Amino acid sequence: MCGIVGFTGKSNAAPFLLDGLSRLEYRGYDSAGIALLNNGEIKTEKTVGRIKSLIDKTENGKTVDGFLGIGHTRWATHGAPSVENAHPHTSTNGKFAVVHNGIIENYLSIKEKLKSEGVIFSSQTDTEVIPHLLNKYYDGDLALTVKKVIDLLEGSFALGIICSDYPDTLVAAKKFSPLIVGISKECNIIASDVTAIASTTKDIIYLEDGEFAILTPNSADFFGNDGKKIDKEISKITWDVSASEKGGFDHFMMKEIFEQPNAVKQTLSGRIKSGEVVFEGFNLTAEKVKNIKRIVIIACGSAYHAGIVGKYVIEDMTRIPCEVDLASEFRYRNPIIDENTLTIVISQSGETADTLAALNEAKRLGSHTVSIVNVVGSSIAKASDDVIYTLAGPEIAVATTKGYSTQIAVMYLFSAWLSKKLGSLSDEEIAAFLENVKALPQKIEETLKQNEFLSEIAKNQINTNSLFFIGRNIDYAVSLEASLKLKEISYIHSEAYSAGELKHGTISLIEEGKTVIALACFERLSDKLLSNIKEVKARGAYVITCTTNGNDTFNQESNEMIYVPDVDRRLIASVEVIPFQIYSYYVSLHKGCDIDKPRNLAKSVTVE
Ligand code: G6P
Repeated sequence: MCGIVGFTGKSNAAPFLLDGLSRLEYRGYDSAGIALLNNGEIKTEKTVGRIKSLIDKTENGKTVDGFLGIGHTRWATHGAPSVENAHPHTSTNGKFAVVHNGIIENYLSIKEKLKSEGVIFSSQTDTEVIPHLLNKYYDGDLALTVKKVIDLLEGSFALGIICSDYPDTLVAAKKFSPLIVGISKECNIIASDVTAIASTTKDIIYLEDGEFAILTPNSADFFGNDGKKIDKEISKITWDVSASEKGGFDHFMMKEIFEQPNAVKQTLSGRIKSGEVVFEGFNLTAEKVKNIKRIVIIACGSAYHAGIVGKYVIEDMTRIPCEVDLASEFRYRNPIIDENTLTIVISQSGETADTLAALNEAKRLGSHTVSIVNVVGSSIAKASDDVIYTLAGPEIAVATTKGYSTQIAVMYLFSAWLSKKLGSLSDEEIAAFLENVKALPQKIEETLKQNEFLSEIAKNQINTNSLFFIGRNIDYAVSLEASLKLKEISYIHSEAYSAGELKHGTISLIEEGKTVIALACFERLSDKLLSNIKEVKARGAYVITCTTNGNDTFNQESNEMIYVPDVDRRLIASVEVIPFQIYSYYVSLHKGCDIDKPRNLAKSVTVE
């Protein structure tokens, strides 16, 4: 949700802090702040709104000197977006400043106790207890004090801490929220996300839960759960920093839409060998596969929609019953899971709190867990028995596009892999399916060519306040994602309906001029869908239909037609989703919305 950064080095900290926060802004963007230590005094600057206001307020960092500092971009959980609630938070005497990502679950009891001891709070946040606790327990030894305080905190946190007695020391601590240390000759830095680090150094160290680090410009010491010094391994950031920049596009979302052919190609690359799928180092053995009676897919948001596509493909190819569950429902439902259930969790960020908790619950109940994750080294990747990375590169726009496309690409690979292990399809059938999978990057590339036409038809929707998507089978699964895409970035109310279900109530909402977007690529179901289109048309709907090239079944009944390449129907989601990502983008653009950072949303939801 929120983003944090920290710097200790041989030059001013502000340029890194402001640049890092700008790169992290997609994680949360209702307020921001920085704190720098200079001449033994901590100075904080905070603003409500985007990082731009903080940059303006500090004249691009010129008004805040200091070689040591921390910064934060916030997505409010406790207390409204305001200057008081923005981080960094400080102890009353100004000795400690803290930035925090996560939620301190026991903050109320700590706050009450501190208040009874005379501490005055200036915000409604859970975070503010931390600087006050640090101040209370401080005995001159920073490392020991930090250890004492983090042991008192329940919940999740990634913390950046500075103390006015330590002019060059940055402290970082982590529990259930991502935190990465960047190491270089000029400075040592921290951030909640590699995108903020990659332009400064490629050498990074992932902190594990319960660990903390004490950093100076020339040293980096790491401590384990028991407070004892530990050695940590340095990893390399493998992608280029330009991957997290706009590269000539006006918005990250459009850049990421156009990156999809390559992202899918990367995800498939090296995993299809001699007509079968190979997952290196997999712990799910052929023997375990034979015992699988049921598959449960768990995710949130678009990843959940990718899971629904997966259900159709897995069931079709393996004949194993497959359910898809929302992580937030699964974890509190007393789910029926055992060692014969395979659990698949899908998450772009690998940090979604509900998905991580659901994964742990499935593990506890004895299920083998496979995660499909984009961010290497993320909490979900680490917690699962097996991980298949999507290799989409960094995704910055809040509305996912290449994340979703690469997730469904992995679902195809996994379905083929399972089919082979189970013998549910012949080797020839699997090889033919995989040939079609390999052709997808090219087919997606072709689909992207409709960019301008989609911009034109998007103009008709700027005054719409509500519309429907309908479809059947995988067309329905794609409708869910198309509808979410449109509503999250254009703020138009939109619902996806299984086409056959509309007449059981919701059709009462169809009236003259109401837009209905029909996804109609399954020709096996063309007649059925045509009937559903006629039902809404008869009630005055404005119909936009998406089908495959050369199919003229729907022309008569549709006001607009969108065509996508003709591919193996099990793979149709990969091409069918593309026009609706672009369409949503243009509706949002024509309406003047903030495409990359839609209101109230955050890229990575690390709270329940
Ligand atoms: C947020 C994002 C969505 C994303 C969902 C799940 O709501 O805005 O785009 O689909 O979280 O995120 P994950 O990182 O687990 O895929």
